Amino acid sequence: MMMASTSHVVTLLFSIMAMVTIAGVHPGLAIALTFSALVFAFLTLAYHRKSLPRFIMDVLDRLTDKASLENAYKAREQHQVVIDAEALATQLRSKVVGQDQVIGELAQHVRRRLAARRPDKPVAVICLAGPPGVGKTHLAKVLAENLYGDKRHLQFFDMAQFSQPHAAASLFGQARGYVGSNSYGSLTAALRNTPNSIILLDEFEKADTEVHKRFLTAWNDGFVTEVSDGARIPTSDAIFILTTNAASRQIGEIAETHLDQPELRDEMTKQALLDAQFAPEVLSRIDVVLPFTPLKGLDIARVVALEMEQLTRQFKLELADGGIDPEILLHAVDVMQDHSRGGVRDIARMIEKEISEGLIEARAQNAKTVRLAASEDQVKVLVVDLKDGSAPAPYAEETV
Ligand SMILES: Nc1ncnc2c1ncn2[C@@H]1O[C@H](COP(=O)(O)OP(=O)(O)OP(=O)(O)O)[C@@H](O)[C@H]1O
Ligand SMILES: [Mg+2]
Repeated sequence: MMMASTSHVVTLLFSIMAMVTIAGVHPGLAIALTFSALVFAFLTLAYHRKSLPRFIMDVLDRLTDKASLENAYKAREQHQVVIDAEALATQLRSKVVGQDQVIGELAQHVRRRLAARRPDKPVAVICLAGPPGVGKTHLAKVLAENLYGDKRHLQFFDMAQFSQPHAAASLFGQARGYVGSNSYGSLTAALRNTPNSIILLDEFEKADTEVHKRFLTAWNDGFVTEVSDGARIPTSDAIFILTTNAASRQIGEIAETHLDQPELRDEMTKQALLDAQFAPEVLSRIDVVLPFTPLKGLDIARVVALEMEQLTRQFKLELADGGIDPEILLHAVDVMQDHSRGGVRDIARMIEKEISEGLIEARAQNAKTVRLAASEDQVKVLVVDLKDGSAPAPYAEETV
């Protein structure tokens, strides 16, 4: 305050001295300068007091409270850059079961990187490793939904499809003169159309080394080159998530035994991947490798319950609160612990086979809410209430 008022006084003194000097040399010029300064001061005052003619005013000054709008806008922009890692982790954990530690680390990493962007690198390059059917691909999908609120921001690539050296062309475009050179590669097109995407590279180790090399450039330089027209497409808004099954048993064990020692765990996981022939040049470009734990005990029950809820929704029905018979979940846990090769996937298939028919019949009865009951090694779908609000027919419980 003090500094500001002193400098104002000094400026004023200098201005007066300048005017006196100019008036001595050229009185006309001094009058013209004084007059212009007065007009300028008047207009500035009028602008700040919002008493300018309406057609000169900013439309926001005229029609709203511009200052509060500007503040709210600034706050919103800030929010998009700085995400709340705890809130994100909580949302992810509600859909991906039994991987709390890696979810926490993933959310922190994404928060840090979104807050401090690097113009010549992707937002992040993350690898999710571990046994099959434990939620790796599922987590990447749920992250995209939570971060961007829209499935279009998830670009899925099954890397097993690119196991031949020439397969790079379908991702990065084809040189002129070849078939397909008039359209963009699937990866370059995805990055061009939605730059702020999660690029999910499923089972990355299965792609050919030529394909790997092209990704290394994408991560190193912050752009990919579309071969057909040489366009440079930035990767600096994208999050690359790789998933892998390499060394899955070993990685599952590491995750279980060293869950709370991130540094040692990270070192051991990377070594396990290297031992399983995971390309070292790829590994060295990955920011963080997150090992997934095999699902156990009640976590299996949680995943099965979520699967049942989701399947019910696909039939446009609701599962009643407390609507799954514990017997069903207990049975699923036993089955999975006894012979779980495909992880939750086997169970999901089993559930679908067992309850789809019952759900179709329930919907045909105009059901709104259902529950699932165990009955002699089978799962029965029972109607709780109907869409029109009426109670289900008494025989419905037995027949559906
Ligand atoms: N931890 C989990 N929490 C919630 N659902 C899960 C979990 N694990 C698996 N599922 C369910 O099982 C399905 C298969 O899991 P997902 O595709 O994520 O397996 P994955 O770990 O990627 O296995 P793979 O290595 O074989 O690709 C998912 O779509 C999801 O519905
Ligand atoms: Mg997967």
